[in-house]
Amino acid sequence: MLDKDTAWQAPIGVLDSGVGGIGVLAEALARLPRERFCFLGDLAHAPYGGRSRQEIAALAGNAAQRLAGQGIKALVVACNTATSAAIEELRERFPFPVIGMEPALKPAIEHGQPRRKIVVMATPATLRLDKFQRLLDRYADCREQVLEAPCPGLSLMVEREGPGSPAVRSYLHELFDPMDREEIGAVVLGCTHYTFLKADIRAVLGEQVALYDGNAGTIRQLERQLAAADLLAREPLSFPEGRVRILPSRENAQDEALLRRFLDLARTGT
Ligand code: DGL
Repeated sequence: MLDKDTAWQAPIGVLDSGVGGIGVLAEALARLPRERFCFLGDLAHAPYGGRSRQEIAALAGNAAQRLAGQGIKALVVACNTATSAAIEELRERFPFPVIGMEPALKPAIEHGQPRRKIVVMATPATLRLDKFQRLLDRYADCREQVLEAPCPGLSLMVEREGPGSPAVRSYLHELFDPMDREEIGAVVLGCTHYTFLKADIRAVLGEQVALYDGNAGTIRQLERQLAAADLLAREPLSFPEGRVRILPSRENAQDEALLRRFLDLARTGT
């Protein structure tokens, strides 16, 4: 348990199976300039999206426990799949605020063009688990607009081949070519890894397609919860060791290099 008077100085934990959560971290770094972060990308067990609920919950629990060991004041589960499988368990288990993610269907429906299709790209686990099915139930009136697009293997492809690669382009063609493109108004990026594929998706579907992700909404929610618990950093602190600490999930120097490369990509676009 953190000391009540000094807890505001503690870092914020962010976890994902891999590079997807880095996009969420980049959003947090920009929006919360006084805060520092501990990021765990569980590359040793990635991808999560093809696993059973129990397996994902156990992996997310272990990753969260490692971050808790760093004395974090809040945890962002920057992974739709882990949120779907384990968010309630994580909230019960840890004493700090735990913020999760879900596919950004709400803004896509509220701001999208009526009658045009909304494609929800996510891992097979996210689309299969109850949490997403309950989200769909909330928008039962628009059910016919929503096309579920499970993308097995795509998160790993983002990590191994990279955004803009021929493998990613041909995956997206196989996904979208059978659909009627004229009908598609929006795509929901329901896996944090896919937020790195915006340019690829636009190249395949055209510039006019609206893309929705949950990164900014999640960080706004983090900020609200930190404020409510009086945990926002009160003054700019200096962090000689930098604002981001990356915890490896296995002994492999390449993992940290990969995560830092995606952090540069998310922050500067290069
Ligand atoms: N980035 C994750 C998500 O938001 C999961 C990717 C994976 O491990 O399959 O769902």
